[in-house]
Amino acid sequence: MPIIASTKGPAPAIAGWTPEGDTFRPVRGAELPLGALLRGWRERAILTQEQLADKAGLNVRTVRRLETGALWQPRTRSILLLAKALELDTEERATLAAATRGLPAPAERDDPAAVTIPRQLPADVAALVGRGRELAVLEGHQSANTVTVVTLDGMAGTGKTALAVHAAHRLAPRFPDGQLFVNLHGHAQAMTPVEPGEALARVLRTLGVPGEHIPGHVDDRAALYRSVLADRKVLIVLDDAADEHQIHPLLPAGPGCRVIVTSRRRLTCLGETRSLSLETLSVAKAVALFTRMAGRERVTDAPLNVLAEVVQRCGLLPLAIRIATVRLRTHPAWSVRHLLDRLADDPLAELKAGRHSVTAALDLSYGRLSPDQRRAYRLLGSRTSADFGVDAAAVLLDTTALQARRLLDQLSDVHLLQEPALSRYRLHDLVRDHASAVHAGRTNPAVRASS
Ligand SMILES: Nc1ncnc2c1ncn2[C@@H]1O[C@H](COP(=O)(O)OP(=O)(O)OP(=O)(O)O)[C@@H](O)[C@H]1O
Ligand SMILES: [Mg+2]
Repeated sequence: MPIIASTKGPAPAIAGWTPEGDTFRPVRGAELPLGALLRGWRERAILTQEQLADKAGLNVRTVRRLETGALWQPRTRSILLLAKALELDTEERATLAAATRGLPAPAERDDPAAVTIPRQLPADVAALVGRGRELAVLEGHQSANTVTVVTLDGMAGTGKTALAVHAAHRLAPRFPDGQLFVNLHGHAQAMTPVEPGEALARVLRTLGVPGEHIPGHVDDRAALYRSVLADRKVLIVLDDAADEHQIHPLLPAGPGCRVIVTSRRRLTCLGETRSLSLETLSVAKAVALFTRMAGRERVTDAPLNVLAEVVQRCGLLPLAIRIATVRLRTHPAWSVRHLLDRLADDPLAELKAGRHSVTAALDLSYGRLSPDQRRAYRLLGSRTSADFGVDAAAVLLDTTALQARRLLDQLSDVHLLQEPALSRYRLHDLVRDHASAVHAGRTNPAVRASS
């Protein structure tokens, strides 16, 4: 494959290339790697790496890493831009394409994950109700020089995952190198939270790194993960994080990536982080959600005030509303008024459908508490007044005001307690029902066994 030197500059002084008359060829039989080819063509064009990057409209780090072979699986678009900037002819483009196809190493070529752009997002919700303000934040500002991270926290079942997945589907076209969805199982039935090292290994494999190249130590895995993502535009959803320690190693560094984290716990992340706490829905939005999920035909006879009361009994919580509508749909004889009567009797007993239940969701939050937090939660559930201050809590918990405030803050950080005004606390209605059921020993035996 000849290279015309006279029009394109002097011989590249690089191993594997040889002058031949007024042309230059790669040494016969030498299957030059992509980096060596690119460097030869760049030197032939008398361009520095910076000049080539500038001409191609690429980051100079991309050019550098391609030439050194540090960048695996470059984006097709980057290769096309380089071919144009280097003014390669048809034959040279074919050579370039062949060398690019050769990446990563032959042993990896058969691994479909190595060549597939990850599109791991779960199905979007059919129609997301409300959340316009939060969507604007999730889709908004992208940092110019570091990774953008948005954390979504809120109590069990507020719709964190639904919102994160919906936002991610909308953002996907801006992240052509793929979308990753990692369930960290921070609050999963019969599962402990995923270890960061394990999550990194899975993600690295998805990104095309062969298993034998994945380092043993979590820090080295995290470093490799950052290297692999450094020049890519990838959207990453880290769902149901247990805490900051679990997610920090999973945060890339480059500005091309964006991360959405969901958690029941308020998180403090590195990088350019925006944090959103997801509240329950307004009554109007909750009725809209109920109507959409129950089916308009099931609610036509129900007066608006009855619908409003039903969603209030569900604590305006999307998970509870969803379960209530499943109950209605699976009992064709029930009217909305009948559902309301049942919810009035014992909401938690009613808010169960198949494997979904509000009690089970709250059991998992309870299960993540320390023993003194569990005791505080149970005792708070046993009191009746709607809201209370630190002093009242200290009396109830039989402790000092300082210790009581610490426990209240901890419960509030995991959204088992609300702080509607400074130093005033209250339990969400369903949380209070749950805390009181735990206090009375009426919940899932597994939870009681672990308390
Ligand atoms: N705004 C919404 N519009 C439509 N459906 C919603 C909305 N928010 C939540 N849902 C539905 O409510 C249910 C609970 O939502 P989701 O699982 O997202 O809650 P979560 O906050 O992630 O809960 P967890 O803390 O258990 O992870 C799901 O079925 C979801 O599809
Ligand atoms: Mg979730």
